[in-house]
Amino acid sequence: MIFRQLFDNVSSTYSYLLASRRGGEALIIDPVLEKVDRYVQLLIELDLRLVKAVDTHLHADHITGLGALRDRTHCITVMGEQSKADIVSMRLADGEKLEIEGVSLGVVYTPGHTDDSYSFIMPDRVFTGDTLLIRGTGRTDFQNGDARAQYESIFNRLLRLPDSTFVFPAHDYKGDTVSTIGEEKAFNPRLRVASVEEYVDLMNSLHLPNPKMMDVAVPANMHVGFSQDQIAQRGWAMMPAYAITLIGRPEVSFIDLRERSERERDGEIPGSLHAPYPALQENLNRGGILNELAATKQLIFYCAFGERSAMAVQAAQDSGVLSACHIQGGLAAWKTAKGPLLH
Ligand SMILES: [Fe+2]
Repeated sequence: MIFRQLFDNVSSTYSYLLASRRGGEALIIDPVLEKVDRYVQLLIELDLRLVKAVDTHLHADHITGLGALRDRTHCITVMGEQSKADIVSMRLADGEKLEIEGVSLGVVYTPGHTDDSYSFIMPDRVFTGDTLLIRGTGRTDFQNGDARAQYESIFNRLLRLPDSTFVFPAHDYKGDTVSTIGEEKAFNPRLRVASVEEYVDLMNSLHLPNPKMMDVAVPANMHVGFSQDQIAQRGWAMMPAYAITLIGRPEVSFIDLRERSERERDGEIPGSLHAPYPALQENLNRGGILNELAATKQLIFYCAFGERSAMAVQAAQDSGVLSACHIQGGLAAWKTAKGPLLH
């Protein structure tokens, strides 16, 4: 496995780059906007293709690199389903998997620091975001934080992992880089409480100042979505209400860009073909299945919220597939328009 722990010394944020092999797909957890050039350079040096950029939660202390990485690499942006970010390509729920080629992370909802906090688990390590820090825990006094929920997340979820599990947090302010579950159980002062009540009292007595960047970072991080307006202005967007009338018509083909797990969870447009977004360019190239299909049919891309499909339309146009369009707002908008779904 390729694994890199990257540091932003302004916000003391750790970001993590993961891949199974050189030349393969990569994902990054908690990227920082100011470091995007560095990540892109590293991706080139390691010969990796970034396919997913993931935030463990909506950050208050730095601006996320999700939007910039999506614009630079056309990767999929990923957050939990509770996130208040306007648009991310893909939303995860507890118990699901976060996957790229050769790497699979368990998705665990660990609210408390915020109500959209997630941890990601591999057999030997866990990425804990700001839920569990090294000898500390994430503050719970803003962004719908909840000390009681955090106690549950830590004691009933994270601390149940094997003691040998490495803990990789989203921050460290003292220079520690990694810990283990066993070490935190033994030495984390915040965890030396006899009850949930005691933990709540402890967290409520901290009275921390707000992060310096908070007033800038939170609003910025809520608006990272790819603007679908430009795609619409070029005439490449289709409103769901109109797309519904095209179901079953021989001259069009609905192309589902989502992952299999999303199709199983949320259903699919009847008669649509499955062509996952990470393989898009291959499928659009000469001899690719979408390139061939476009010779006789208009391609109508769709995904969960319209972000992947908007990028796909642009890629199709760039590849000479000029009839391609997408369903604006994705399956979420399709559902609102009462479009039929196959489960
Ligand atoms: Fe945070």
